[in-house]
Amino acid sequence: MVKISTSLFTIEKKDLAKAVKAASNTSYFHIDVTDGEFVKDAKGGASLFYNESHIKTVKSNTNVPLDVHLMIANPLDNIERYAKFYPYYISFHIEAAQDPLAVIKKIKKHGVKPAIALNPDTPLSKVEDLLKSVDMVLLMSVMPGKGGQGYIQSVTDKIKILREMIDKQGLDTLIEVDGGIKLSNVHIPINAGVDVIVSGTGIYAPKEEYKDLTPKEVIEKMKDILALGSDHGGYKLKESLKKYFDKKGIAYKDFGCYNEESVDYPDYADKVVKEILKKEYNRGVLICGTGIGISIRANRYKGIRAAKCNSVFDAEMSRKHNDANILVMGERTTSLPSAKKIFDAWYSTEFEGGRHQRRVDKLDGMVTY
Ligand code: RB5
Repeated sequence: MVKISTSLFTIEKKDLAKAVKAASNTSYFHIDVTDGEFVKDAKGGASLFYNESHIKTVKSNTNVPLDVHLMIANPLDNIERYAKFYPYYISFHIEAAQDPLAVIKKIKKHGVKPAIALNPDTPLSKVEDLLKSVDMVLLMSVMPGKGGQGYIQSVTDKIKILREMIDKQGLDTLIEVDGGIKLSNVHIPINAGVDVIVSGTGIYAPKEEYKDLTPKEVIEKMKDILALGSDHGGYKLKESLKKYFDKKGIAYKDFGCYNEESVDYPDYADKVVKEILKKEYNRGVLICGTGIGISIRANRYKGIRAAKCNSVFDAEMSRKHNDANILVMGERTTSLPSAKKIFDAWYSTEFEGGRHQRRVDKLDGMVTY
């Protein structure tokens, strides 16, 4: 599941406790540490958390694990200062470490997961050999040091290339991205394959149509990602819909299949269904040749309401009356233009509740004959 790491970089000392409570549904709190040397903050000095005692304030107001990002010149000699608060991750910059393996070893010695961070202009070749030694790679999508900058678009390709490198090495190293991410562009790094999103201003000071949302609401929206699955018979339609989702700004995670080689549709129904039942994802889209086999399998799970829709009317009704949490379509039975319209109707229609809730409740009742 994609995790949100809420950055406290722009929060003032007096507002820390309040800010931490306001975003209590985040997966991590991202603690930016700048020393005024490797990175200067907006005022040209060290950041609030350079003084590690402020981490204590965060810790005493939340049980959410911490994701400490060290933007300091000498990580090796400063690990203890931050590791003593038992954060979940400590990341340090490859540009600042003379002996990265020694830093990684020290972080691990304290029982903390090591992550390595790269500035936007640092090539991935610098960390390729270290991927197996760290739990996460943090790609900066702005120049580190000040909040509120714009996301650097070229980082999207860097995410995709890094994803391939990690997969090729057969590793489960995660990718985190940090800088300029808000609700209007969060789908870009997610759809490129990122695992952890860092956002600060985007959560605490959302803009335009999102400006009235609370930090908790922003986080929930950032986590509203579609789970996608298909067999080989639905692969091409799924790929075309992914391009459509990219354009529409809809975030997704594709659970396969990843090419047209013959596979078994129940396996891909299972993958998506499990994510929804674990509540890692709220809703999904499944596609096979006809949409029939994959929907039959998905509907064997209690709590899944997978609706095979052939028309916009089906899609609307599947939401209004059946609260369908999975939309199913068939590549051989639905053209791309219709699939887009069917998806739009399903995605934007709310469940009506009322008498339909009673009926939906009955769907999960055990039936024997
Ligand atoms: C695969 O050939 C096909 O059977 C499958 O995609 C689907 O149509 C099953 O219902």
